[in-house]
Amino acid sequence: MPESFMMSHFEAAAAVVRERTALQPGVGLILGSGLSALADAVLDGVAIPYEDIPHFFTTTVEGHAGRLVVGRLEGQAVAVMQGRAHYYEGYSMAEVTFPVRVMQVLGIETLIVTNAAGGLNPGFNTGDVMLITDHINLIGMGGLTPLRGPNLDAFGPRFPDMSEPYDLRLRELAGRAAAEADVPLREGVYVCLAGPSFETRADLRFLRLIGADAVGMSTVPEVAIARHGGTRVLGLSGISNIAPVEGAAVETTHEEVLEAGRVLVPRLGAIIRGVLRAL
Ligand code: HPA
Repeated sequence: MPESFMMSHFEAAAAVVRERTALQPGVGLILGSGLSALADAVLDGVAIPYEDIPHFFTTTVEGHAGRLVVGRLEGQAVAVMQGRAHYYEGYSMAEVTFPVRVMQVLGIETLIVTNAAGGLNPGFNTGDVMLITDHINLIGMGGLTPLRGPNLDAFGPRFPDMSEPYDLRLRELAGRAAAEADVPLREGVYVCLAGPSFETRADLRFLRLIGADAVGMSTVPEVAIARHGGTRVLGLSGISNIAPVEGAAVETTHEEVLEAGRVLVPRLGAIIRGVLRAL
């Protein structure tokens, strides 16, 4: 399980994508649990199974297909990851974030990341979309970061700035797109845990206290790599369940997370399409 990759690895993977399509994607899109259907709207696309791309992971989680779809969405050339890798699956952080750097080599300037997340903010409901305004890299603070290891100067600096990971203009465009599509848009801070167990109630109280509005098991490593390489980022969480902080016992299940995806796909789709049109 490689803990780090070299430029030649990213270039080898990018070369395979270029063999399959002449389209040069300007926008990367990562689809989270239960959100794969968003790729169905991509036009004139080629779908490249992850197995065909050197050094790519293959996904093991239900609800995550494993294909890179390159095509057009709202007139923009996009590379869509239908399925992502998570640290809890056993992949290294380098593997989890490998495709982000491949997309950077392919020329993306914007990355749109989506995820399914548990709502911590008491004002949130299942089915809400939350615009990520900032994140807490809890696992990164503990040492689980893809930026550990030799720095690849061709992508970015050893000590990258992380003061505003989520691009202000993209956030504005998302706000406008949501309003136009009549989708209520929440805003908040996403906290990343390693999973795969859902949180204890004490975990959840702690996460609320430190200022998190939604909790999940992905996204932050990908965003760290994207920002290291200077890629603009838009992050959207689909609130798939409300984390049971207090009150009667409510269990969180993966089925519930996937079920919420069905409500969330059209909402997230409307926002993403609106942003792409405005780019
Ligand atoms: N906790 C952590 N990750 C999640 C959750 C949750 O409640 N829902 C979806 N991903």
